[in-house]
Amino acid sequence: MFSLAAPLLCVLTLAYQVLGISWGLILDSASTDGNVWIELVYTIHVPQGPPATVTTGPWFFWCGLQPQGGGVVQPVLQWGEATPDGYVNNNAPFPHIWAMVLWDVPADNFNNNTSRISQGVWAAQGDQISNTASFGNGAWTQSAQVISGQATGASTSTSITANQYFHDDAAHDGNANFFVCESELDGSQTNQWNFPVLFTDIFIRAKASTGVEALCASAQPFSDGNGFANMTGFSMFDANTCHFASLILTPP
Ligand SMILES: *[C@@H]1O[C@H](CO)[C@@H](O)[C@H](O)[C@H]1NC(C)=O
Ligand SMILES: *[C@@H]1O[C@H](CO)[C@@H](O)[C@H](O)[C@H]1NC(C)=O
Ligand SMILES: *[C@@H]1O[C@H](CO)[C@@H](O)[C@H](O)[C@H]1NC(C)=O
Repeated sequence: MFSLAAPLLCVLTLAYQVLGISWGLILDSASTDGNVWIELVYTIHVPQGPPATVTTGPWFFWCGLQPQGGGVVQPVLQWGEATPDGYVNNNAPFPHIWAMVLWDVPADNFNNNTSRISQGVWAAQGDQISNTASFGNGAWTQSAQVISGQATGASTSTSITANQYFHDDAAHDGNANFFVCESELDGSQTNQWNFPVLFTDIFIRAKASTGVEALCASAQPFSDGNGFANMTGFSMFDANTCHFASLILTPP
C-alpha cells in the first residue's frame, strides 16, 4: 500500500496541508568524516486525544532517522490512520484513539514507492511506549513496547533490508545522518492541536564519535511558528551516543 498520508518529512511538495514543529540533528558528512546515526531509542507518553471537534487527520507524533537521499525509519504515534495489518491488541479495553506503528518510508523509486508498515499497538492516555530503531547487518530493525499503563506488555516489531528502501553509501552503514522529531498534523483542523506531547529517555547513537557531542550540545528549545520543541537534560551516554532526558512538543 502506498499511502499519501505516510508520515514523511516536510521536504516534499505535498498536496495537502501539513502543520508541524520539527526538531532535527544533522551530522554534516564533510565535517564528520561521513558519520551517521545508527540507533535511536525513545519513550513517548501517550497524550489526550484530539479535541472532539477534530474529524480530519491523520495526526502523527514521532522521532526517526532519515537516510541521505530520502525516506525515513520511524516509530510513529498516530491518530486517524488505519494500519493495513491491523493491531496486536485489538481487544484492548480502552478507547482506541492512539496507536504506535513502525514505518519504513522508502526513498523515491525504492521498494516500488511502498512503505513497510508494522502491525499497530493501541495505547491509552498516560501509557508509556519505548521505541527503538537500529541499523545492523544491512537491515533496519524497529520495535515498540508499552512499558507502563493500560497496554503494558503489548509490542510490535519490524525489520527491512536497508538497500531495498534507501540509498546505500560506500560504507554500507545505513547512510542516516538526519535525526528528527516532529508533530506532523494533516487535515484541515491542524490549528486545533491543543495538548503537549512528551518524549523521554531519548538516546541517539552514531557510528563514530566524530562531531556528535558538539552537535547535540548545540540543541536549544525553539519555536518555528508551528509549535515549540523544548528539549532538556542533554548528556553524553557514551562517546557516540547523545542522551536527552526529555522533549516536549507543544502547539504554537
Ligand atoms: C515513485 O514516486 C516518484 C515520486 O513521486 C515518481 O516519480 C515515480 O514514478 C514513482 N515510481 C514508481 C515505481 O511508482
Ligand atoms: C508496483 O506498483 C504497481 C502499481 O501499484 C503494481 O502494479 C505492481 O504490481 C507493483 N510491483 C511490485 C513488484 O510490487
Ligand atoms: C518552551 O520554551 C519556550 C521558550 O523557548 C517557553 O516559552 C515555553 O514555555 C516552553 N514550553 C514548555 C512546555 O516547556
